[in-house]
Amino acid sequence: MNKHCLVTGGSGFIGQHLLALLTRQGHSATLLMRQPQTLPALRTQVEQLGGRGELMTAVAGDLGLAGLGLDAAAREQVRQPDVVFHLGAQFAWGLAAEQARRVNVEGALAVAELAAQQGSRLLMVGGFMLANHGHLQRIGIDLQRPERTDWDKVYQRTGAYEGSKLEAHFRVRVRMAELQAPLTMVHPATVCGHSRSGHILPAQPLAGLIGNLAGGLLGAIPGSAAHWLPLVSVDFLAELIVAAAFDGQQAGQEILALDAATPNLQGMLQQLAHTLGVSAPSRHMPIPLLRALLKIPGVPRLLRTDAESLDFIQTTRFNTAATQALAQRHQLHWPDIGQALQATARYLANEPSAVQG
Ligand SMILES: NC(=O)c1ccc[n+]([C@@H]2O[C@H](COP(=O)([O-])OP(=O)(O)OC[C@H]3O[C@@H](n4cnc5c(N)ncnc54)[C@H](OP(=O)(O)O)[C@@H]3O)[C@@H](O)[C@H]2O)c1
Repeated sequence: MNKHCLVTGGSGFIGQHLLALLTRQGHSATLLMRQPQTLPALRTQVEQLGGRGELMTAVAGDLGLAGLGLDAAAREQVRQPDVVFHLGAQFAWGLAAEQARRVNVEGALAVAELAAQQGSRLLMVGGFMLANHGHLQRIGIDLQRPERTDWDKVYQRTGAYEGSKLEAHFRVRVRMAELQAPLTMVHPATVCGHSRSGHILPAQPLAGLIGNLAGGLLGAIPGSAAHWLPLVSVDFLAELIVAAAFDGQQAGQEILALDAATPNLQGMLQQLAHTLGVSAPSRHMPIPLLRALLKIPGVPRLLRTDAESLDFIQTTRFNTAATQALAQRHQLHWPDIGQALQATARYLANEPSAVQG
């Protein structure tokens, strides 16, 4: 049966692919948008990705404003969706803590409360580091009693974007439990382009890495041979999100959207370099050394790399059994991540405007 959904972050990279899949399946979506006047262009984009633009409507709203910036008419328009998909987030390295908290934490709490008031399921998109409990403890999160966490210290360690995503996760989980409202979380790894077309947006972290490789800015491989940057292709991520959102058994569950077959960083850079026709770095540089170098003024700009991005390169391996089970239950097939990487590199090489300059 066709469902009606409310979507935040619909204009973003994951949001576009989610909307393409939702509308292709016949579901309708109201988007909370800071710039609802851009809906026609977004409809066209979603149609190019295989969706149905006519099933999308928009209301003006802003995660950073009180009451989500929704006026009375907009509140009426967002009544009683079956599922609220919360993807909206301010993503940037070097964000001010106050700004990150207002949009990514307070905004997420406001979306959660709206979903609970409307009797809707909330599908919230977090991030894969939430499944790395050793890392969470090392950066100072109290996993038994998250409310005791000194979040300012966490923000200082991780940077405000990641800190705010982590805080949002724990606070929304508590709030939804208090409100006895259904919540499903999906935690994506770093998102790779579409597994066949390679479509990716230029501001994506992986597009930045590929741009650096293509531009000869990657002189060494961060970390050791055991380090990797776990990936998931955007089309498969959208399939997992939709499957989890409409599956009653997934209420209260957290899904790790991560392809365990992602090669180590060295292998990944070799594959990308081969596709781009450039040479791949062969020497490793220890992460602490790279972190120290990035503290030197001007170096992050020179290398087009920010220390905040280094936390995502780790040696930890993850248990994806629950994700495999969800995929099997819904007959979803993991695309080949190597092919998705190559398609992404080809897409970026053919669309130079998509590589950040
Ligand atoms: N991409 C990844 O590798 C990755 C990995 C793990 C988790 N995630 C998470 O997945 C979600 C989606 O990521 P993405 O890569 O698709 O992000 P994205 O391309 O940067 O898109 C962000 C979306 O959030 C919206 N947004 C930002 N600030 C807003 C505000 N104040 N009010 C309303 N909307 C606002 C943007 O809308 P505008 O059009 O108005 O800018 C845009 O639609 C985020 O929660 C992100 O943390 C992403």
